[in-house]
Amino acid sequence: MTSSMQHWARTLADTWGIEAELSPLPGEFDLNFLATARDGQRVVLKVMRPGCGTEFVDLLTAAHLHIGRHDSTVPAPRVLPTRAGEPWCACPDADGESRLAWVLAGLDGTTWATVRPRALALITELGGDIARLDQALAGFAHPGLARDLKWDLRHVDWVGSQCRDIADPARRTIVQRILAHATELRPALMRQPMAPIHNDLNDHNILVATDEDGARRITGLIDFGDIIAGPVVAELAITGAYLVLDHPAPERALAALVAGYHAVSPLNEAQADLVWPLLLLRLAVSVTNSAMMQKARPDDPYVVVSEAPAWRFLERAHALPDALMAARLRVACGLPASEAATRVAQWLDQARGSFAPVLGTSLDAAPTGALSVVASVTPRDPFRMTAEEAQDVGAAFAPGTTWLGLYGEPRLIYTDAAFRLGPHRGSDRRTVHLGIDVFMPAGTAVCAPLDGVVEIVEYRDRHLDYGGMVILAHTTPAGDRFRTLYGHLTRESVARLAPGQRVARGDAFAALGAPGENGGWAPHLHLQLALITDGVGHDWPGVADPDDADLWRSICPNPAALLNLPDAHVAYRPLDTGTIREMRRAHFATNLRLSYDEPCLFVRGWRTHLFDEWGRPYLDAYNNVPHVGHAHPRLQAVASDQLLRLNSNTRYLHPAQVEFAEALLAKMPPHLTHVFFVNSGSEANELALRLARTRTGGKDMIVADHGYHGNTTGAIDLSAYKFNRPGGGGAPEWVQIVPVADTYRGAHRGTDAAERYAGAVDTALERIRARGGRLAGFIAETFPSVAGQVIPPAGYLNAVYARIRAAGGVCIADEVQTGLGRLGEYYWGFEQQAARPDIVVLGKPLGNGHPLGAVVTTAEVAHAFDNGIEFFSTFGGSTLSCRVGTEVLRIVDDEGLQQNARVTGDRLLAGLRHLQSRHELIGDVRGIGLFIGVDLVTDRATRTPATRAADQVKNRLREERILIGTEGPADNVLKIRPPLTVEPDDVDHLLETLDRVLGEARAQTGTRREGGTP
Ligand SMILES: Cc1ncc(COP(=O)(O)O)c(C=O)c1O
Repeated sequence: MTSSMQHWARTLADTWGIEAELSPLPGEFDLNFLATARDGQRVVLKVMRPGCGTEFVDLLTAAHLHIGRHDSTVPAPRVLPTRAGEPWCACPDADGESRLAWVLAGLDGTTWATVRPRALALITELGGDIARLDQALAGFAHPGLARDLKWDLRHVDWVGSQCRDIADPARRTIVQRILAHATELRPALMRQPMAPIHNDLNDHNILVATDEDGARRITGLIDFGDIIAGPVVAELAITGAYLVLDHPAPERALAALVAGYHAVSPLNEAQADLVWPLLLLRLAVSVTNSAMMQKARPDDPYVVVSEAPAWRFLERAHALPDALMAARLRVACGLPASEAATRVAQWLDQARGSFAPVLGTSLDAAPTGALSVVASVTPRDPFRMTAEEAQDVGAAFAPGTTWLGLYGEPRLIYTDAAFRLGPHRGSDRRTVHLGIDVFMPAGTAVCAPLDGVVEIVEYRDRHLDYGGMVILAHTTPAGDRFRTLYGHLTRESVARLAPGQRVARGDAFAALGAPGENGGWAPHLHLQLALITDGVGHDWPGVADPDDADLWRSICPNPAALLNLPDAHVAYRPLDTGTIREMRRAHFATNLRLSYDEPCLFVRGWRTHLFDEWGRPYLDAYNNVPHVGHAHPRLQAVASDQLLRLNSNTRYLHPAQVEFAEALLAKMPPHLTHVFFVNSGSEANELALRLARTRTGGKDMIVADHGYHGNTTGAIDLSAYKFNRPGGGGAPEWVQIVPVADTYRGAHRGTDAAERYAGAVDTALERIRARGGRLAGFIAETFPSVAGQVIPPAGYLNAVYARIRAAGGVCIADEVQTGLGRLGEYYWGFEQQAARPDIVVLGKPLGNGHPLGAVVTTAEVAHAFDNGIEFFSTFGGSTLSCRVGTEVLRIVDDEGLQQNARVTGDRLLAGLRHLQSRHELIGDVRGIGLFIGVDLVTDRATRTPATRAADQVKNRLREERILIGTEGPADNVLKIRPPLTVEPDDVDHLLETLDRVLGEARAQTGTRREGGTP
């Protein structure tokens, strides 16, 4: 401690009775010390700048004491009184000058500035905490509250003159515009109730703690130095102003904050509407202040750096329509989107039944048709709606009849890049339909349901756009305005119309276009209603992002009334995911686990992507079963063709059985000539065990540690990954374990590692001899997967096999994870080891999801097995399975998927190695082709597994809609093994997202143990 610190440590001991070590904390003008007592208690000693008035310190300490008395759950620090019971005192500093000092209890956590990701749920919690803070402050009175602060949003006239210091004229204009708008709003602001507010909850004044499981909570609202009596809504706007900066979804973040606040301390419409303009105003004040400072201190680069995020935000956001932002914040509070919205909705409801028929006829009897991601398989490729598919929408279920497409329905038919919300194929996209479709023949007249005026008329000729589109403006008898949109009209309809033109109720103002002029669709009307007239402009979204759908549903509600239909008739009923979860809990054992903290529900798949019930795409970098991609059309065709004909078993002859056998054997080395078809990897291993035992007459097996071979009784006995885990019961006496040949974590890492690991087989054989057993064989996953995606050193398998064979055993290669081209350079894992197994076990990818396993072996082993007992597997080798299996093998070849595994796998591995150079957390990147492991460590030197970080990374990636797993004895290895259809764009998507998520993990581990700094 410096002598000044020693002085203040003595003062703390003498005046507060706290013996502690001091360390300095940041502070602009005052001295702040973190004091840690011997018992671990942490407090903050605040020594005010020389000359600081007593009123100010009294204000701050009184505010803290008041908050604590009013609501002790508000995460504001407690004031610790002096021994004499005073909240603060005047004490001499080391030079004898009098300073005002006070003490606060220390808080856990790190500042919001360091928190990544800034999850919406945490922001909502913050909103609630701020509401409770404001409620607690509401009854606080102190003469010091009435002060002039340039940060008081009611008195910002100074910005008008000072913004001349902003050098860039475009930026100056932004500030001037915000200021002009704020001036208009001033009367509304001045009408707001006044109360004490913190007034500066920026991201250094909010503390967040992370618990052992990575869960976060707000632990501190600190530094009340700017407290004033102001409009309470300014508190939210000011906090929001910092929260939105560099947030990936700023508008949603703000809505989450407002929602959290409103849930505790309800806001009215006027308050919700003020938040956004006040937020912009706070940022305008901030950048103007920076410009002044920059002028005063032109050589200080910090000023420019610190204002950059505010400019980045303002340049984008100042132009966002006020009405739309107000609607967003109102909806976040559960309020109607606009003043008029409720009245218009009520009027439409009352007038239902009295509107002129929009398509000239009653739609009461028209059926509805589903285009939802749940119910429909259009488009076949969710990334590409073909012209034929668009023209044929509904042709399958409603040929030639009038039918209705649902409001609020999530659909995959919007495949144009314009619907995408990010740069990648698998980026989020807009899916939720905001209108009703009426499918009728081209040329059908479109009539106005009520009087209106043409506001916008356009022809949009892009594939899957509207073609002809008209927006009519209407006024209710009470004088409220709303609009209706009609899409997919003829080119001629829009040529005839002009903005300003009046259209009377029942007037046929347009006609339904044919596919050649309506965006390419089966002829239909898209009818949409909008209750907000400002801010939506020409470009109403016809389809909303599912994560933003609440907002858009309240701006563009169900227009059924205009068609004289009940809302419910045309409203999409979402899948009831809550009930599905409940039923699962009721009927399934809890060890049937779900992946991820927030489980996924998928209803469609395509190649390397999966889609949830709202049509959100997920990049599947985890599942190796859909080897040739999800929902492969050739497999669907083959399966349905075979099901049309026959699905029988191996007791009868069929060409499909031998075709499959030949196709499989053609991929095997020539010494493997016989196959058995079964239904799963487990069944295949079970059979392999029997084969080894009948061949050798032995019972004992040698297995690799942490191996997994299936869930059946025999397969579990071979799986150290199961029997050596809690509840597993340990190894059977006939099983000997050898260590997994892991050169990163295992005992042997040098050039002789292969021989040393293989040497463990000698000891295992010794143990078998010692117990009087007889060897049946050795089994291992060729590249151990659950052991952490391990690639054994070259020569390992041969060295093991030589020992096993010398002892009379049979060598089994479990290729369930590694076979069929996944390794890129090699079709099978044992090829990489130049080894010749006696038995090869296949499963997972062989049927691409159809239950299919196989055992491939030598003639000797197969013949030895025929000891009199018939071998029969009812479904193994069914006609259907054989057709599917053959087709999978052909697709791998026809589509060059093995080659893709090599090229795209190399791209992924190179990218991961680059990430390793950027992130200390990555200890090792290993893999071949698309069999990849990323070993996370807390310390590269000790290779300590970063288990918790791996779990967090996996779950964060899932939030970002990328699926990977974790594996390894310590569950710290990221397991990446996508379908072989993965493309370079998918790899880039994964790498970019992983880079960001690893950055967050670093921020988190790097700051977890920091103390709070009021
Ligand atoms: C290496 C290995 N062998 C066997 C099996 C068991 O296969 P199944 O689940 O099809 O019974 C698995 C399953 O994960 C596996 O990874």
